[in-house]
Amino acid sequence: MPFTFHSLRSGSATASSNEQFAQAVMEGLSRKPKRLPSWLIFDNRGSDIFTEITQLPGYHPAQCEFEIFQAYKQTITDLLEKTEFRVIELGAGDGGKTQILLKHFIQNQLTFEYVPIDISEGAVKNLVIALESKFSQSGMSVMGLAADYFDGLRTISQQSNWRNLVLFLGSTIGNMELPSAQQFVQKLRESLGVGDYVMIGFDLMKHPKALYAAYNDSTGVFEKFNLHLLDVLNNKLGANFVKEWYVQQGQYNPRTHAVESFIYSTREQVVSLATLKKTFSFDAWEAMQTEHSYKYTIAEIEMLAVKSGYRIVTHLFDANKHFVNSIWEVMK
Ligand SMILES: C[S@@+](CC[C@H](N)C(=O)[O-])C[C@H]1O[C@@H](n2cnc3c(N)ncnc32)[C@H](O)[C@@H]1O
Repeated sequence: MPFTFHSLRSGSATASSNEQFAQAVMEGLSRKPKRLPSWLIFDNRGSDIFTEITQLPGYHPAQCEFEIFQAYKQTITDLLEKTEFRVIELGAGDGGKTQILLKHFIQNQLTFEYVPIDISEGAVKNLVIALESKFSQSGMSVMGLAADYFDGLRTISQQSNWRNLVLFLGSTIGNMELPSAQQFVQKLRESLGVGDYVMIGFDLMKHPKALYAAYNDSTGVFEKFNLHLLDVLNNKLGANFVKEWYVQQGQYNPRTHAVESFIYSTREQVVSLATLKKTFSFDAWEAMQTEHSYKYTIAEIEMLAVKSGYRIVTHLFDANKHFVNSIWEVMK
């Protein structure tokens, strides 16, 4: 079957991912100030709202990455065309940008397999269905995996020894603080073979006013996305958040070098999480952080690559140098 979907998040894995979710929420709501990690937002609806964000004309990380894929699809093809290979996408979402590349590989008659991995089961399922409807006659095979990044990678590495191109797009790496990003790329290198490629999308530091504009759209999609987290907590943990009693705003913090998004409680209130048998109180206008999007410099990106055992192959920029897709090769 050339187009398949597998979930590594069913059965006992569901119990362990629910536990991981509950633990992250407990830790985050117990912190002072409260802070929840952004991966919690990505249930099926969260993934759909994120796709809306990528379509906002003012959200430069997505628009720049689309531009880079269009401009450099042949450069990426030139890296790979002599061998059979596998494109593995971590946190694939709707795979929108990647499809530019897949189409180009197909037109160039390359032999490859595409493996999108995402914790959002709905996102992966929808992506496999969309690819099958567009590319069923192409010869490309697709294996969608609903899984955590490294669970997915472990499954694939047992399967064959094709050269890998791992995509980690959308500036998802920016959701990690710098030490976690370092651990992540090191662990990624350990999961891959010598000669495999990694392409990571980094949002670059720029005028803070431009960053503010990108994360505070006038249509309210960012607010909808961040407040969706409260729906997720209500659904998964039997919480009783009243979404209308919260508002959201994002801003660049020069001390952390990240755009940080906050949900503000507009009144004093107590929230209970039935599944955890816990209550948490919010003061009026108390802020809870829900997103962290680190803005990199090229020097930081190069340090990250080299310290983690990669050779930098090339940096692909958009015309304004607002964003970079950096391609690295795994070294011995
Ligand atoms: C910022 S979005 C980027 C989506 C897509 N790559 C893009 O560029 O539009 C991050 C994606 O990573 C997924 N994700 C977050 N944490 C994950 C994890 N631990 N394992 C697998 N996927 C994860 C989310 O579900 C989401 O689809």
